[in-house]
Amino acid sequence: VVATTAAADPSTVIGVAHRGASAYAPENTVAAFELAAEQGADMFELDVQETKDHKLVLMHDTTLNRTTDAEKVFPNRSSWKVGDLTLAQIRKLDAGSWADADYEGEPVPTLGEALGAMRGSGLDLRLEIKSPHLYPGIEGRIAGTLRRNSSWLSENRLVIQSFDRDSLRTFNKELPQVPIGLLGTPRTADLDDLAKFADEINPPYADVTPSYVKCVHDNGMKIFTWTVNDPDDMSRMTSYGVDGIITDKPDVLSEMAATP
Ligand code: G3P
Ligand code: CA
Repeated sequence: VVATTAAADPSTVIGVAHRGASAYAPENTVAAFELAAEQGADMFELDVQETKDHKLVLMHDTTLNRTTDAEKVFPNRSSWKVGDLTLAQIRKLDAGSWADADYEGEPVPTLGEALGAMRGSGLDLRLEIKSPHLYPGIEGRIAGTLRRNSSWLSENRLVIQSFDRDSLRTFNKELPQVPIGLLGTPRTADLDDLAKFADEINPPYADVTPSYVKCVHDNGMKIFTWTVNDPDDMSRMTSYGVDGIITDKPDVLSEMAATP
């Protein structure tokens, strides 16, 4: 028998909507975040990148092709990288139709718009700095946007996460009060050192074992795992003692939490 490190109670696990309720609404749009709130998520996750004119927009891929109609709107380009188009250009795009015709015309939001739209939702925010090596200085610009939307900071409704340790360390210097989550599965031998700047270690669920959860907790950090969409996997991760589950289907997690 392998010991778990926390009470395995589904109702206490924090439910995070991955890119919003992205199984049902187009990822990284306000529509997906609002649906996550309706489905009982505790938190919503989003990915931040930067346009050519240094505006912060929400997009997972470093190109616009998969989740917008960029190729149709700008047919004469040879590449459709987020960082090669201005905000004005990106605002011409439809980020909804690719997922569902009901969401036709859903725009690519700026970070500021998402913060404004979700301020009254009661949900906390998990903000991923995506591919920061492409956008030198993005950490300072994210911090600036958060300072202008200060209730997220004063109400402690925010975690910053990334796969990029340097970016997290840079952000930590900008706003040291904001908790930091490191994405990935570092070696347990490194956890002690990582705990100097990280508050969470966030691995894919295939990597999570009860002993890994215990090591993270023993080093004073939390563990949020992704992307868990199957109820059996949600139950297993809960039994291992994870602090939070990041899912495209917050309704499935809410239902599990509500079931005695
Ligand atoms: O929140 C965890 C998850 O978002 C990390 O992977 O590729 O979906 O950004 P990805
Ligand atoms: Ca992400």
